[in-house]
Amino acid sequence: NADPMIDPFGRMVSYLRVSVTDRCDFRCTYCMAEHMVFLPKKDLLSLEEMERLCSAFIDKGVKKIRLTGGEPLVRHNIMYLVRALGGKLGAGGLEELTLTTNGSQLSRYAAELAECGVRRINVSVDTLDPVKFKQITRTGDLSKVLAGIDAAQAAGIHVKLNAVALKDFNEREIPEIMRWAHGRGMDMTVIETMPMGEIEEDRTDRYLPLSELRQSLEQQFTLENIPYRTGGPARYVEVAETGGRLGFITPMTHNFCESCNRVRLTCTGTLYMCLGQEDAADLRAVLRETDDDTVLSAAIDEAIRRKPKGHDFIIDRTHNRPAVARHMSVTGG
Ligand code: GTP
Ligand code: 5AD
Ligand code: SF4
Repeated sequence: NADPMIDPFGRMVSYLRVSVTDRCDFRCTYCMAEHMVFLPKKDLLSLEEMERLCSAFIDKGVKKIRLTGGEPLVRHNIMYLVRALGGKLGAGGLEELTLTTNGSQLSRYAAELAECGVRRINVSVDTLDPVKFKQITRTGDLSKVLAGIDAAQAAGIHVKLNAVALKDFNEREIPEIMRWAHGRGMDMTVIETMPMGEIEEDRTDRYLPLSELRQSLEQQFTLENIPYRTGGPARYVEVAETGGRLGFITPMTHNFCESCNRVRLTCTGTLYMCLGQEDAADLRAVLRETDDDTVLSAAIDEAIRRKPKGHDFIIDRTHNRPAVARHMSVTGG
């Protein structure tokens, strides 16, 4: 095995997020512009190349791989990669293979995902009102997503619901979504919206600090902090009234970078050491230059040495400017 990845701040990298495509069949208003320009297909890594990169990372101590997008399940032939990575589970190597998905294609893929070793997935659902769902996703169909969640659960996959908390959009609905999720045995996480990429929506108007949401939830529910961790940034509480878990992802109000264990690979083979910074390493060039995995490993080491301390996202109240120019869909969060 190659050397483990330890950054200059002593943090070990064990979690690789892989954006397999920047494309998506939805256009969530906080994520994308209405008319997005996607990366040219010729710039994409092949799935075989992604597999090789993932193997290099597993060799270097990655225990958890999450496929993201865009929407990972719209990538042509994606199950090839899922199956290949599923084959690397266990035996001191990869411990978890998972996805973050909008759920639109889940009905079709749930059984096969389970068969490949996927035990847990995160599905983004910001509202359970079909009209509002169409508003926020612009193109999404809630009933398809709900059918997808059913299929995943039927296949024995644990589903976590992700909701971006948005002022005057789903703020008041969150207790109801949570009751629904917990009633179906799902965990839920709420997320503070991060300023990435040009979008039409006003981020300042929509931004909801989760400290506010927590206070209002505490009027109705008893929340107890629990040490449950998944390797992601969420801090969980158990809700006494529902018996379920609710996680808070608070990049804006409570920075969790100190315990960061992740890096993210884009569909063009660019490695971002931080979601909230521009610095990146071009692994595609290295990959295509040589078959020698020690060279690849050295290029990864060089990138990890540049992992920054953290992001510096701020909500720009005067200009509505994104803190980071690229859209969330490029790195998949
Ligand atoms: P679990 O494995 O279930 O903990 O999932 P996760 O939270 O790691 O992944 P998911 O794709 O569900 O991401 C949920 C939210 O967390 C998304 O909005 C991501 O952008 C955000 N997120 C994940 N990792 C980071 C990170 O390192 N920094 C920041 N700022 N946000 C992150
Ligand atoms: N801020 C926070 N979360 C976001 N997501 C997409 N865009 C943003 C944003 N600007 C979420 C999606 C999905 C996860 C991968 O990231 O809703 O659940
Ligand atoms: Fe697609 Fe996810 Fe972005 Fe929505 S948040 S547009 S589902 S990538």
